[in-house]
Amino acid sequence: MKIHLAPMEGVLDHILRDLLTRIPGIDLCVTEFIRVTDRLLPRSVFRRLAPELEQGSQTTSGVPVWVQLLGNDPAAMGENAVRASALGAPGIDLNFGCPAKTVNKSRGGAILLKDPEEVYQIAAGVRRALPAEVPLSGKMRLGFHDKSLAIENAQALEAAGVMRVTVHARTKVEGYRPPAYWEWIARIREAIAPPVIANGDIWTVEDLHRCREVSGCEDVMIGRGLIANPFLALAARDPERNCSAEQTWPEMLRMLSVYHQAVSERLEPRHVNGRTKQWLRMMQRHYPQAVALFEQVRAERDPEALKQVLQQASVANPDR
Ligand SMILES: Cc1cc2nc3c(=O)[nH]c(=O)nc-3n(C[C@H](O)[C@H](O)[C@H](O)COP(=O)(O)O)c2cc1C
Repeated sequence: MKIHLAPMEGVLDHILRDLLTRIPGIDLCVTEFIRVTDRLLPRSVFRRLAPELEQGSQTTSGVPVWVQLLGNDPAAMGENAVRASALGAPGIDLNFGCPAKTVNKSRGGAILLKDPEEVYQIAAGVRRALPAEVPLSGKMRLGFHDKSLAIENAQALEAAGVMRVTVHARTKVEGYRPPAYWEWIARIREAIAPPVIANGDIWTVEDLHRCREVSGCEDVMIGRGLIANPFLALAARDPERNCSAEQTWPEMLRMLSVYHQAVSERLEPRHVNGRTKQWLRMMQRHYPQAVALFEQVRAERDPEALKQVLQQASVANPDR
């Protein structure tokens, strides 16, 4: 079983990818999407969203990082894919799932799923442009308004030559509301030859097993579940290990401090606490201890003050 870390714009930046992949269990990362319009983007854009390109396109722990592109112009997408691969990306992923209004308005992301022919043209354009040895994958939702074109869209990706299709088991309209329709992933898997990666609403080890069972997929992609519980992949691989919230909270607090420090060094002070609190807020789903801590820092705007609170919490929660 392979576990991929999902791309998440504004959340899963290289700092968080680095921290999450320090815990064993994740096999592959995908960057936040890089938006392509009609031209070749400067190298600096790729390096900003995928700083790992400067270190062999791997996280510090050696987990490969693929670059994701989002756009609808086959030629421009092809050119940018070639640039990403020349900069060292081990593979390119194409986004056919983003639900954001601004992105969909300029015909990018999930809106493309209304037209499988367009999905084909974009993916085929990129495949033609890329050297044969550079792998190309696609990530899709089940559709825009409904699921009627789910299989056709996956078949369009297959026909265009992608080597893998990740399916987030919801339509655009379904947003992120539960449930994820894992049984639809099974239908897609049965209809195409390339491996299908199952994605959507894997929050626990039990979810992971059920998702694999229902979808019939060997491999999965996890986003929010790994942010809420960074030990989820490890727990799935090593059932004997105690990865409970109680056991891992001290380690989480240390990671949160490291994250806060790294964010402080890279972002303007007024943006720092927002990022740290965003992660802490997402942790509440798995860590009951995060609820009180989040309440404690909710209104805190000063990065230095938040740093102190995190350090105090760490001291109060030594390793078990
Ligand atoms: C805040 C946020 C940002 C996301 N950004 C991207 C993105 O840049 N590219 C992409 O393909 N999917 C993106 N997604 C979708 C996730 O990759 C994933 O498909 C979705 O969250 C469902 O998986 P999960 O339930 O494991 O989180 C994003 C999701 C969220 C919540």
